[in-house]
Amino acid sequence: MTIPYPSGQSLPAFATVTPPSGAARPRLTFLGTGYLGATYAICFAELGYEVLGCDIDEEKIATLANGAVPFHEPGLDELLRRNLAAGRLRFTTDYKETADFGDVHFICVGTPQRADGMGADLSYVEAAVTSLAPHLTRKALIVGKSTVPVGTAEWVEQLVSKHVPPELGVEVAWSPEFLQEGFAVEDVLRPNRIVLGVKSEWAYSMLYAAHKGVFDLAATEDREVPVVVTDFATAELVKVAANAFLATKISFINAMAEVCEVVGADVTQLARAIGYDPRIGNRFLQAGIGFGGGCLPKDIRAFQARAQELGAGEALRFLHEVDLINQRRRTRVVQLAAELLGRKSGPAGPDLSGTRIAVLGATFKPNSDDVRDAPSLAIAGMLHKAGADVHVYDPQGMENAKRALPEVTYEPSMEDAVRGADLVCVLTEWADFRNADPVALGELVAARRVIDGRNCLDPALWTQAGWVYRGMGRP
Ligand SMILES: NC(=O)c1ccc[n+]([C@@H]2O[C@H](COP(=O)([O-])OP(=O)(O)OC[C@H]3O[C@@H](n4cnc5c(N)ncnc54)[C@H](O)[C@@H]3O)[C@@H](O)[C@H]2O)c1
Repeated sequence: MTIPYPSGQSLPAFATVTPPSGAARPRLTFLGTGYLGATYAICFAELGYEVLGCDIDEEKIATLANGAVPFHEPGLDELLRRNLAAGRLRFTTDYKETADFGDVHFICVGTPQRADGMGADLSYVEAAVTSLAPHLTRKALIVGKSTVPVGTAEWVEQLVSKHVPPELGVEVAWSPEFLQEGFAVEDVLRPNRIVLGVKSEWAYSMLYAAHKGVFDLAATEDREVPVVVTDFATAELVKVAANAFLATKISFINAMAEVCEVVGADVTQLARAIGYDPRIGNRFLQAGIGFGGGCLPKDIRAFQARAQELGAGEALRFLHEVDLINQRRRTRVVQLAAELLGRKSGPAGPDLSGTRIAVLGATFKPNSDDVRDAPSLAIAGMLHKAGADVHVYDPQGMENAKRALPEVTYEPSMEDAVRGADLVCVLTEWADFRNADPVALGELVAARRVIDGRNCLDPALWTQAGWVYRGMGRP
């Protein structure tokens, strides 16, 4: 396979580049073994690489080393155990060991929203680089995978040059990550594209060698993985631009839902009808309670903050609106709850005291245990603040939810959560909830009222079973 280099010429013979460790294939390390880093470490061991995962969280490292994935991701546990047993995969908290081992070091630490503003907190990236760099004793490639503001890769290069003697020739590259929680194994083994921000042919060749397992797997399945080779700034921007687009698409259809609510139209039919146009497409076009998670909300804010710093703030002003539309969906559920329960809203919102509400779903999406900025959990908190007695159940997110929102009651099953409820709110579209039997649940509740925050239930079925049904953006 030949892949065009930015300038247009082709680079031959990637496979012949010898990793600095002398190993046949580059040895890979992943700095930060959270959702991103652990998934990568495990999947790249599965592709045959020798891999070392490094984290400062001793408990997480011990859990992984013992063969348990510390979060919920379908298919990952089995791959972890298989590759630990094969001896290709290890975990450590020791940066010296990490530096000695690796040819290519992937930065996978968190880049959360700063406590004092909308920008990204880069302190974890800085700590990872400055912990690794002083221990490097030979040439290596440090590759950023974390989602970062444009300009970070250049800054990482400067950090490296402060801590590593120039004669070692340590280089930096950036390769943003697009995996989706819930589909992460598939997304890492079979990515829909790979973006490589590089400055030298050596960096490109090493990154190619580090991804050869992905290309080889694709070849055996008669697929190709598109590769975009580009400069640092473009590579960094690709990720935030993609997330800005996805967030905008979701908020667009939620804005349509707001209009539908006023005129009595049905946003689900509207979405279907416009989604048939291939220029629009129907994915990410489901109206509901909006987006959340550890990426989209903080990424669109960090993107705006960085654009503002660079004097391009006007260009991204629309993302402020995207964020506002998204937040309004959460308030809309509280309003709907008040309406259904016959409570009036005052200036401080409705008073829901004396009501019992079941919240089904705490994670930001199904097939994950991630509750970071989850709309479902945020709404559970808002209902509790309005005075309701809130009972939450989630198939995988209970432990994380209890830590994030300890003030509500958690129930061991969907049935326990809805028992005696005056209102049921379905806020994450887990299959268990989508397929729930409205007749059976109807026997357990105090009153048959349901808010379908994800438009994932069949209104006819629920109405026939005697429920008062309210969806998002539906009559
Ligand atoms: N989760 C996703 O679906 C996803 C997808 C694409 C991109 N990203 C990006 O990837 C990055 C990581 O996200 P995540 O969801 O994996 O976060 P996470 O919080 O699950 O994991 C981050 C890990 O980094 C570790 N860490 C912190 N400081 C460290 C240090 N100095 N050295 C080593 N480890 C350290 C933490 O202990 C933690 O285990 C973020 O920039 C995120 O935006 C995430």
